Amino acid sequence: KAKIKQVFQCQSCGYISPKWIGRCPDCGAWNSFVEETIEAGTERKILSETVQPVSISSIEITVSDRFLTGIAELDRVLGGGLVKGSLILIGGDPGIGKSTLLLQASNNLSLQYGKVLYVSAEESLTQIKLRAERLGITSEGILLLSETLVEKIIECAKETQPATLIVDSIQTVYTEEAVSAPGSVSQIRDSAAKFMNFAKSTGIPVFLIGHVTKEGAIAGPRVLEHLVDTVLYFEGDRGYAYRILRSVKNRFGPTNEIGVFEMTSQGLTEVENPSLIFLSEHGVSSGSAITATIEGTRAILTEIQALVSPSQFGMPRRNFIGVDYQRVNLLIAVIEKRGKVNLASADIFVNVVGGLKITEPASDLAIISAIVSSFRDMPLPDRTVIFGEVGLSGEIRAISQTELRLKEASRIGMKRAIIPKSNLERLKEGYDLNIKGVTSINELIEVIN
Ligand code: TYD
Ligand code: MG
Repeated sequence: KAKIKQVFQCQSCGYISPKWIGRCPDCGAWNSFVEETIEAGTERKILSETVQPVSISSIEITVSDRFLTGIAELDRVLGGGLVKGSLILIGGDPGIGKSTLLLQASNNLSLQYGKVLYVSAEESLTQIKLRAERLGITSEGILLLSETLVEKIIECAKETQPATLIVDSIQTVYTEEAVSAPGSVSQIRDSAAKFMNFAKSTGIPVFLIGHVTKEGAIAGPRVLEHLVDTVLYFEGDRGYAYRILRSVKNRFGPTNEIGVFEMTSQGLTEVENPSLIFLSEHGVSSGSAITATIEGTRAILTEIQALVSPSQFGMPRRNFIGVDYQRVNLLIAVIEKRGKVNLASADIFVNVVGGLKITEPASDLAIISAIVSSFRDMPLPDRTVIFGEVGLSGEIRAISQTELRLKEASRIGMKRAIIPKSNLERLKEGYDLNIKGVTSINELIEVIN
């Protein structure tokens, strides 16, 4: 029998320390260490059986190895449907809509491919039934199980042989094998490993729902990321109706793909034309610029708003939402130094409409345009999409996937585009847009005047 050892483990990343520490040296989380019991020496296992490699050419690929969930946005984020035998983690804040999404997917999956086993360790069966009724879900193929012990869940799944197994949530189940409390790092890791084993040995895909907590009071899904095949995060401001499903890891498809949903009284509905939402309330006012950002395999048009006003205090306020804080500060410095616009005593606010988070430097030009436009209190040219990267000396750099962005802009009804000159020179096709190429921030400031 293995020896039992007491250790302290970071609940957000799984780092192990022999004594309690206030701040995790690995992930930087504060107050995240909790005492846990682990079995000493379980990390090292000796291979008892002889193993045989196989030739790469002898492996057959079957194309029908995917289930379609019937929710097109979810299927796309999964890389073209649900791969058999895969383990998928869906993380997100409590109340964001994870259970709702998977219940809706269960409906379609059960109608198409057979039973779906939905294990709820969190809500009562009545609660789930009430939600299903609200969503108009009537499929008899959804089997509900209220159970928290992993071994029992797997036993039941082996008997039922469902097309898909859903575990809601990984933090509320526990395995007899791990010695520490449910919700702790070693518990959720060991439980997930059991589900991985189940998925691989039976070919039944398994969804694990994981809550993300800011305080690290319960272990976050982050510790599972390396273990599972696919990691999806469901994001969005609870104040907005829009939800974004993002793939951050996918062994079976592209990452950074997003799916856009709207939470309605009938559950989540797919948004097929996300550009239209992020622009829907776009008017011609100063401080508003439209950019085209690449999300996975798609280009999405979105609006960036800036508000620049004289500061009432000695310390000007800077508040940016949906964009990188450091990046925008850098852009402000470039505007001041290279563009000769004095922003030193101005409060500056920047916001991305609709709750999208933009990380691409390609949005630099639009952020600058929005700030300059608000500073001058002059609207930017109407129906104009702006994108490109800016360097420290104020030069405009070429970016990738110009064609994709221009196509989306033209499809949505834009009339003009302001892009890096070097990108313009390399364009092969003609577009239904009046395209202007710029080489420096000074040129940009002139063009948008
Ligand atoms: P839920 O799926 O329970 O979130 P999670 O599993 O991520 O914790 O979603 C709960 C929220 O969604 C709750 O605030 C109510 C809202 N909601 C709707 O607006 N419409 C609906 O049809 C449903 C089922 C939920
Ligand atoms: Mg839930």
